[in-house]
Amino acid sequence: MEPKTSTPPELSPAPGKQIVNEEIVYTQEFLDLLLTLPKEKNYFGVDSYQYNGFWFPKAPLYGMIESQIHFQPRKNDVFLVTAPKSGTTWLKAIIYTLLNRQVNHPQDPHHPLITKTPHQLVPFLGLLKPSDYDLISNTPDSSTRIFGSHVPLIGLPKSVAEDNGSFDCKIVYLCRDIKDTFVSFFHFANEHLDRSCNSMEKAFDLYSRGVSGGGPVWDQIIGYWNESLKRPHKVLFMRYEDMKTEPYFQLKRLALFLGKPVSQEEENEGLLDQIIHLCSIENLSNLEVNKSGTTSRGLKNHSFYRSGKVGDWKKYLTPEMAAKLDHISQEKFHGSGLSL
Ligand code: A3P
Repeated sequence: MEPKTSTPPELSPAPGKQIVNEEIVYTQEFLDLLLTLPKEKNYFGVDSYQYNGFWFPKAPLYGMIESQIHFQPRKNDVFLVTAPKSGTTWLKAIIYTLLNRQVNHPQDPHHPLITKTPHQLVPFLGLLKPSDYDLISNTPDSSTRIFGSHVPLIGLPKSVAEDNGSFDCKIVYLCRDIKDTFVSFFHFANEHLDRSCNSMEKAFDLYSRGVSGGGPVWDQIIGYWNESLKRPHKVLFMRYEDMKTEPYFQLKRLALFLGKPVSQEEENEGLLDQIIHLCSIENLSNLEVNKSGTTSRGLKNHSFYRSGKVGDWKKYLTPEMAAKLDHISQEKFHGSGLSL
C-alpha cells in the first residue's frame, strides 16, 4: 500500500475560501508510471524520478502531471519559472508587488509582504491540488493569477506554454550563474539535513549530472532561452545578476512585459526605489514572517534568504569544480547565444 505523503500547497486563498492542508493521494496510474521511470536518490536522500529527461521528486512530479491535465489558464495568468535557488523568492515578491501596486502601495505599512512570505502570496503550481487552482486570487484582476514553477518548458501545461489566442499567459524565466545556484542549493539543502549528511562532493556530483529538482538545470534554462527568442511576447528571460546590477531597467522591462508599465509619474514618485527596498533581501529577511516558521512543506522560511550575493561561489568551489560547471555550460549553451 502506497504511503500517503503530506505535501500541502502554499497559497493565498480567495477571500472567504479556506484551503485545508491535505495529504496527496496519488492515482494508481501515476504509481504505475513511477515504476517505469529511472530513479535515483537526490541530495536530500529522497527518491527522484527522471521523466521526459528531467528529474523530480515524487510529489512535484505528480503536481506537474496533474497540472498538465487539469489546469485551465485565465487570460493574463503569469508564470514565474526558475531552477531552485535562482532567486525565485525575490522575483515572486517583485512580481506580486508590481501587479498589486494599485491596491497595495509598496510603502503601505500593511503591505501583504509584511505578514506573508512571498511563497504564500505566490504559490507553486505544482504544489496545488487541481481543486485549488481556481482559489488563487493574488492580483486585483481576476483574469490574472501569479504562479511559481520549477518545471522545464515541456512540463508546463500546454495551455500555458503554447500561444492560445486570447489566452495569452506570460512566462517570466529567471536564471542565475550556475555556480552560485549550486552553492545556494548546497547551503539551502544543508539547512534541512543532519550535519553528518553534508557533503559538497556528493551534492556536486548529483547536481552536475542533472539530478536536481527540475534539472538538469542547463536543459531547463536553454529550453526557456530558446523560447524567449522565438516568442519574446510570451517568455521574458531574466538574469539574477542583471537584477542586481541594473534593477531599475529590469523592473521597468518586467512591468512592461507584464502589461503594467511603470508610468513617468510613478517613476518620479519613487515607485521603483520603493519596490526595490520592499523586496530587498535586507528588508524581507528581517521581517518576522520570514525569520521564523516553515513553509507548508516544512522548509524553514529563513532558509530562503542567505547572502544574496553574486559570485559567492568563489568562497566554496574548488577551481576544478568551477571549471567543470563552466565547461558543462559552454557545451550545453554552445551556439545558442546564451552564456552564463
Ligand atoms: P544565496 O543562497 O546565494 O544567498 P530561491 O528563492 O530560488 O530559493 O533562491 C534563493 C537565493 O536567492 C538565495 O541565494 C537567497 O539568498 C537569494 N535571495 C532571496 N531573497 C532575495 C532578495 N530579496 N534579493 C536577492 N537575493 C535573494
